[in-house]
Amino acid sequence: MDTTLVNDVKTVFKSKFGAEPLLIFSPGRINIIGEHTDYNDGFVFPAAVDKGIVAAIQKSDSKTCMAFAIDMDETIAFELDKLKPSSEGSWENYVFGVIAEIQNRNKSVGNFNIAFSGDIPSGSGMSSSAALENSVVYGLNELFNLGLTKTEMIFISQKAEHNYVGVNCGIMDQYASMFGIENHALLLDCRSIEAKPFEINFKDHELILINTNVKHSLSDSAYNDRRSACENISALLGIKALRDATETDLLKIKDQVTPENYQKALYVIQENDRAVKASKAMTDGDLETLGALIYASHNGLSKQYKVSCDELDFLVEQAQLNDHVLGARMMGGGFGGCTINLVAKNASKAFKEAASKAYKEKFNKDCSIYSVKLSDGTHVIN
Ligand code: GLA
Repeated sequence: MDTTLVNDVKTVFKSKFGAEPLLIFSPGRINIIGEHTDYNDGFVFPAAVDKGIVAAIQKSDSKTCMAFAIDMDETIAFELDKLKPSSEGSWENYVFGVIAEIQNRNKSVGNFNIAFSGDIPSGSGMSSSAALENSVVYGLNELFNLGLTKTEMIFISQKAEHNYVGVNCGIMDQYASMFGIENHALLLDCRSIEAKPFEINFKDHELILINTNVKHSLSDSAYNDRRSACENISALLGIKALRDATETDLLKIKDQVTPENYQKALYVIQENDRAVKASKAMTDGDLETLGALIYASHNGLSKQYKVSCDELDFLVEQAQLNDHVLGARMMGGGFGGCTINLVAKNASKAFKEAASKAYKEKFNKDCSIYSVKLSDGTHVIN
C-alpha cells in the first residue's frame, strides 16, 4: 500500500468534507491460474496485491451523501432512499450498488461522505472494481456497526456488480481482495468459499505482470455470454455447475451443443483440473510443471474460451520464446489487461526489455510492467 496515496486521500477528504475520516485500504488481485472457473463453482488461485483503493469515509449531518472519485475529479450527491443504477460504465454504480445490497439485507446506513483514489491501472485485469466495492462495504460496516462478516461483505460486493454494474461476475475478485494474506496466494474453492493459503516463495523465480494497456469495450457482454453458455450446458447435463462435470460427461452431449460452446465447457473442465494440479506442483516446488499449466491455461483461454486478444497472445508468445520464462498467460476476465509471467529472476530484466521492445514494434504502443507484492486483504488503515 502506497502511504503517499493514503495521505493524499486523507488530506483531500478533510479539505472537502471538513472531518477526520476512517481510512480503508482494499487491494486488487492477481490470479496464478483458474480463470473463468469461479462462476462454475470451481477452483481459482488468486492473491491480493499491494496496489488497490484507498477510501476515506465518515458520517455526515447533511441531507445528502457525497461520493468523490478523486482520480476522475468527479463528485456525486445522492440520497439513500432514492438509489438506482446510473448509466452504464459510471463509477458511482459501484458505490450505489453496495449500499443498495446492504439495504436489501435489511440493514440500514446513515448519511455519509466518501472520497477514494487508487493505484491499480484501470482495465489491467487486477480488479479495481472489487477493490472499490470492498472498500465501500467495509467502511460502511465499520461506520454504522452493521455486524456483517467478511463473507457477507464479499457477497454484497458481488451482487452490487451483478445488479448495478451489470457484470455477472464470480466471487474470486471480491474474495481475494477481502481475504488476501501477505506473501500468500489462496487456492479458493468457489463452491464452499473455503480457501487454502499457499506461501509464495518461488526462490530464484518471480511473478511479473505485463499490461497490454488494452481494454476492449465489449468485454462485459462477452463475459456475461460466456457465463450463460456455461450455465446452459450445466442445465443440459443436469448438474449444478460445470465443476461437477468430467470430459466424459461432456462428450455425451456433444451433439446437443454448438462446437464453440462445447470447447468453452471443455476449457472450464480442463482449467479447473489445472488449478488443482497447480496447487500440487506448488506444494512439490515443481515450477516447471506449474509453468506448463500456466501456458496451457492461456492456450485454452485463447483458443477454446476465446477471451484473449492479439496483444495478450503476442506477449505470451514472447514469453514462450524465452527459456527463462516458465509460464505466461492472460489474467482476469480477458480481452485486454495483463499477462502474468513466471520468470527466472536473473533473466527478468532482459525479458522485460525484450518484451517491451517487441510489443512496441508490433503494436506501436507501450506495454507496462509491474512486479508483484502479495499483501493482506481489505482493512482499516491505522
Ligand atoms: C473477472 C471476474 C471474476 C472471474 C474472472 C475470470 O475478473 O470478476 O469473477 O470470473 O473475470 O476468471
